[in-house]
Amino acid sequence: MKKKSVYIENYGCQMNISDSDIINSILLNNGFILSENLNQANIILLNACSIREKAELTIKKRLEQLKFLKKKKKIWIGIIGCFSKQIKNIFLQHKIVDFFVNPNSYREIHNFINYSIIGKQYDHVENKNETYADISFVKTKQRNNKITTFLSITRGCNNMCTFCIVPFTRGRERSSDPYSIIMECKRLYKNGYKEITLLGQNVDSYLWIDHNNLISNYKNTVDFSILLNLLAQEIPFMRIRFSTSNPHDMSDEVLKVISKYKNICKHIHLPVQSGSNKILKLMNRKYTREKYLFLVKKIKSIIPECSISHDIMTGFCNENEEDHQDTISLMNEIKYNYGYMFSYSPRPGTYAYRRLKDNVPTKIKKRRLKEIIDLQKNHSFYRMKEHLGKIEEVLIEGESKKNNQYWYGRNSQNLVVVFPKKNLNIGDLAYVKITDTTSATLIGEFCK
Ligand code: 5AD
Ligand code: SF4
Repeated sequence: MKKKSVYIENYGCQMNISDSDIINSILLNNGFILSENLNQANIILLNACSIREKAELTIKKRLEQLKFLKKKKKIWIGIIGCFSKQIKNIFLQHKIVDFFVNPNSYREIHNFINYSIIGKQYDHVENKNETYADISFVKTKQRNNKITTFLSITRGCNNMCTFCIVPFTRGRERSSDPYSIIMECKRLYKNGYKEITLLGQNVDSYLWIDHNNLISNYKNTVDFSILLNLLAQEIPFMRIRFSTSNPHDMSDEVLKVISKYKNICKHIHLPVQSGSNKILKLMNRKYTREKYLFLVKKIKSIIPECSISHDIMTGFCNENEEDHQDTISLMNEIKYNYGYMFSYSPRPGTYAYRRLKDNVPTKIKKRRLKEIIDLQKNHSFYRMKEHLGKIEEVLIEGESKKNNQYWYGRNSQNLVVVFPKKNLNIGDLAYVKITDTTSATLIGEFCK
């Protein structure tokens, strides 16, 4: 066989995209070539997501398409990323998947591929403590001219929300060591990156026991507020973002650190899922509506300019009209800047799948989803209008897709800003006066 050329197709969240960078590094170190073109590769990796049924269906469809390619030429297909045992069995029915590698086994991915090529299965016990903290990223060409990037600081999740498959696909929660995080951020800055998003299913529960007590002044425990504080000082010219925050774990100290440093962006993604206490309890979210609202008030009082976004799910088991109205009234009370909305789909293996009834009819789920999407659009527009007339710092990320005479970037609140091009470049920070807005984009003029 000539060169082993790998093509990765990404599905799912930022964590999967960030994992692809880790996989690229491991493959390059083990004699593989990375391909940007499906047709030139002989190894195809689908970086799967199974958080919702829709994502799983997308992968199944893709497998059907790849069946034809596999008939035409000798290729190996691997599924990596998020899949539970049950979902693996569903994918196996397609009979074209040669191997599976779960997120705790990427360090051995070359062996999975090499064994598969000689028609064998690679036996490997996953490392449930894996953090990949020592692995420096390699970016693919596609992403090379980007100036923003991701870095996972925690992996897995211990929260066991009853609807969620993540604890089954990514395992228990663990944190990367702070030294490697700081080193990697510095290296990324040296390589031209201007913004880093720290990733984790639950970044606020970041915790590192510093047995060597190397980070002085901090006793021997590094929590998320300490990590943010350190990073803000170590990479002062790099913007810092983070995602996702679980309302249950967000501390006052974290809020104070965000407000203290200019390079920590003023945006918090704070999934609420539902505004009904009954549903929150069924979901095993460990906060109430009242606690969530209190937290939002606290965020606004410590960081007045902070934007807040959400995840909300409609149609969870036993959700009735009153519960739905609770979600609507919570949204009306907060008026989020933006959000991601889904209708519930049962995931094999989760508590809700095994023990609760998916008893909200699809038609009602869809109607409720449409109602909250429409409401969010109004709220987004309302929030965007608050920026009119202000001068905001925007990091230029590229050309606007709609008009190549405009730059595209984001302000500290993670809102998209477009403005006419001047003598500026991608990666520059521009001060832009906001003159107009839609519900999704701020439009402005360059000031300085
Ligand atoms: N069905 C629908 N949405 C889900 N999410 C997680 N699990 C499910 C599910 N089974 C949503 C939640 C979560 C986001 C990442 O995906 O809103 O915050
Ligand atoms: Fe899933 Fe809940 Fe963990 Fe988020 S916090 S990854 S929803 S179990």
